[in-house]
Parts: sequence; structure tokens; C-alpha cells
Amino acid sequence: MTAMTPDQLTEQVLTAYAGTPDPRLGQLLTSLIRHLHAFAVETRLTREEWLAGVEFLTATGQRCDGERQEFILLSDVLGFSSLVEEINAADGATESTVLGPFYVPGAPVRAMGDRIGRPEDGSPTLVRGQVRNPAGEPLDGATLDVWQSSGNGLYDIQDPQQPPFNLRGVFVTGPDGAYEFRAIRPVSYPIPADGPVGGLLRSAGRHNWRAAHIHAIVSAPGHRPVTTHIFDAENAYLDSDAVFGVKDSLIRPFRPSGPGDPPDVSYVAEMEFVLAPAPETGQGRGAGSGT
Ligand code: BEZ
Ligand code: FE
Repeated sequence: MTAMTPDQLTEQVLTAYAGTPDPRLGQLLTSLIRHLHAFAVETRLTREEWLAGVEFLTATGQRCDGERQEFILLSDVLGFSSLVEEINAADGATESTVLGPFYVPGAPVRAMGDRIGRPEDGSPTLVRGQVRNPAGEPLDGATLDVWQSSGNGLYDIQDPQQPPFNLRGVFVTGPDGAYEFRAIRPVSYPIPADGPVGGLLRSAGRHNWRAAHIHAIVSAPGHRPVTTHIFDAENAYLDSDAVFGVKDSLIRPFRPSGPGDPPDVSYVAEMEFVLAPAPETGQGRGAGSGT
């Protein structure tokens, strides 16, 4: 009798899952099994390494609660969240990037041009632009849900000194698709590093800083929403963002204000958002490859 080979074992496992009734679940499971087995074979994974991996994932799960999602953080620092965004992007639309753990639904709807934060949060910055479709037509009734950290690098939900919904706001465009709001010039900040994901970053010799950004979820009736950022072109972490969220198309100058700009702001950033029409069925750039 000859010993079973790794390939034979993989085939045996795949056969056991071949009858999965839901075809999509079957596709996901069999692809996952194939790649997991190939990983173990390629690296000649030892028992000790397998166990260390199990313990790491266990610790990651134990660090999750109603407020903290260490598994999403793990997905973020491995570039997996960014990859999923990429695969599901709509052609012709503003590029999307990670949502992150600090989004809070229900931010107040503010009047166009309003401040989202307090004077003590940082350098006052006017952010303005237009929401349009890929044909260049302005989108009436588009919603921008924006949020950012304060100058101390903390979001309101991390910092008892900030009032709820500080540096958050919802703005709705008129027929010209134009928007503007007063924010602060964004700062770099460290992502949480006191859990297993922080340990992983340290083991890999990686830092845990995010490139300075303002978050936005932009949506409009009949269009696919985009979850994205505006990045500061002068930031030091654009090339090494801890969660691989930076896309060149999302980087903007935050220029010092000058004559013709409102006197109460120190910087101005301009960003156009493009939303693609909602498809009849959910189709992403990578959808339908069938393999
Ligand atoms: C954020 O930008 O808020 C963020 C994204 C991913 C991980 C941690 C923070
Ligand atoms: Fe952020």
C-alpha cells in the first residue's frame, strides 16, 4: 500500500465539499480549501506553526466585542479589505477604500458649508467640490457622510473629551451637485496596536500609522454608493499606510488659503466624487470571471 500524497488528500477534501447545495458557497469553500492546502504544502508548515496560527486567530477572536473588531483590523493590515474594495469597484466611479472601524451612522445633517468640528480640533480647512455621474452631470440630492479624527489623532468615539458626532456630518447637494464643508486638515494617527494585530505588525517590522485622510461615504438615488477617503498629498505615510488604503486618485493638495478664499479657513482641498449608476444586478469589476 502506498502512502497518501498531499494532492490526494486535497482532492479527498474537495470531493467531500463538492455537494454543497448553494453553488456560490460551494465555489467559495472549494477555492478556500485549495488555497489553504497549497499554502501548507508550499511553506511545509510545521505542527508548531499551525498551532501558533490557531492561537493567533483565537486571540484575535477574543479581542472582538461590540466596539472592537480585531478580525476586520487583521483583514485591513493584510490588505485584504482593500482588495475586496478593489474587486467590487464600479468602472468610472471614484475609487473606494476601507471603511475602517470608526464610522458611526446617524451623524447630523448639516447646512452646506458648516463646520463639522470645533476650533480646537485643528487647522480649519475648507473641503469642496462636486458630486457627478460618469457623464459629468451633477447629481442633485447626493449625500456626503464625512468623518475624521481630531488633531490629537482620536475619533470622537475614542476620546471622552470630544462631544458625540464631533468631526462628523452629512451634507446633501442641490441641483448643481456642489458641496462644501469646514473640516480640519487631517493628521496621521496610529491604528490600535494593543491587540494581536499590533503584535503581528511588530513581528513584521511594520508601523501602525495611517496616512492623513478624511472619510466620506457618498451616495445618490439610483447610483452605487462609494466609501472613500480624501488623502493629504503632503503626508509622510502615503507610501506605507498601515491598511493599504491609499489610491493615487484620492490624493489631493491641501493648499494654504489665499485671496478669494473664505477668511476663516487656513487650507482648501477640492475633491470631485463620481458615482456610477446602480446596475440592475450587482456587478463589480471582478464579477462574473467564473473561475
Ligand atoms: C480608519 O481610517 O479609520 C481605519 C481604517 C482601518 C483600520 C483602522 C482605522
Ligand atoms: Fe480614519
